[in-house]
Amino acid sequence: MTTEFEKVFGAAPTGVWAAPGRVNLIGEHTDYNDGFVLPIALRQVVLATARRRDDGRLRLYSAQGDGRVTDVLVADLKPGAVAGWAAYPAAGVWALNESGHQVGGADLYFDSDVPSGGGLSSSAALECSVLAAYRDLYELDLDQRQSALIAQRGENDFVGVPCGSMDQMASACCTEGAALFLDTRDLAQRQVPFDLAARGLRLLVIDTRVKHDLGDGAYAALRAGCERAAALLDLPALRELTADRLPEALDRLPAELGPLVRHVVTENARVLQAVALLDAEDFAALGPVLTAGHASLRDDYGVSCPETDLAVAVAVEAGALGARMTGGGFGGSIIALVPEERTSPVAAAVEAAFAAAGYLAPRSFTATACAGSRRVG
Ligand code: GLA
Repeated sequence: MTTEFEKVFGAAPTGVWAAPGRVNLIGEHTDYNDGFVLPIALRQVVLATARRRDDGRLRLYSAQGDGRVTDVLVADLKPGAVAGWAAYPAAGVWALNESGHQVGGADLYFDSDVPSGGGLSSSAALECSVLAAYRDLYELDLDQRQSALIAQRGENDFVGVPCGSMDQMASACCTEGAALFLDTRDLAQRQVPFDLAARGLRLLVIDTRVKHDLGDGAYAALRAGCERAAALLDLPALRELTADRLPEALDRLPAELGPLVRHVVTENARVLQAVALLDAEDFAALGPVLTAGHASLRDDYGVSCPETDLAVAVAVEAGALGARMTGGGFGGSIIALVPEERTSPVAAAVEAAFAAAGYLAPRSFTATACAGSRRVG
């Protein structure tokens, strides 16, 4: 890595920082409704090799990019100033300054094994790797949570994606061996032990390779729909609506908003149920909760697609205890909770079904709960 960095930037780096992608176990499209989420960090990370520059220049290079260096003055950063993948790291630097942390330039070399467009938060990992590097390079007084919120601010206001806080919080705050139970209203968090291997289970992640892109407006439209529903119900956010008041709320809403609200309310309840099951070490009972979450995303929220629906159905048929899409939807990845000995058969069944349907070959791997962003070199 050092040599690659030197080839591109002509000087030695100071260190290497890692920030992981994530899968969310349950709690999808709840974070911008002040609700609950339950992600784990993946072993796949964005590595940022970096050195500080004191001339105000920000130079960005990606091993997965087109071989060009983005070179921009930190003082010139403003929304719209940087396009493509480089907008995400630039967003992190811009958001630091906007949040009152006076930072200057750096040389940053990125190398990532988080599949991009796979719904596994490659963008948040990119942002969080920058926050981790900058925190050390500029000796900033920032904890993991504050770093995540600054990264989210960059994505919202610089890149222009109105995402919630889950992905950045997962990339920064997850810990090894645990799922992050996060209340996105007050950011209270609890690390819930998540050791599937001890139970003879695995979490299979299957990337459908249907590119998922949050920037295309559909995500923003869903968020706007939820906010409109909350306003019509006189609530600060849909989080405040409990399941017992759902029927009455649905009566008061225009027909097109009802299913969105039903998803958010039932999904929040599923997160609480999942956490209770993990606390009780009843891992197998988690399966049907995941599958119910997928049905809700497919039928009520409308963010699944034929590929994710097929992968989920085939995984369950082939012996998964439960399965669902993970992340924002419109493609991306699914997760399947499987008994260890069913891991390969489930992956093979989904592959065969995709081949029969004429879809691209999916890519599978098993996930364990890994640590959040950190210095690694
Ligand atoms: C994307 C967003 C997150 C969250 C999920 C859906 O990953 O970045 O904030 O809203 O979609 O749960």
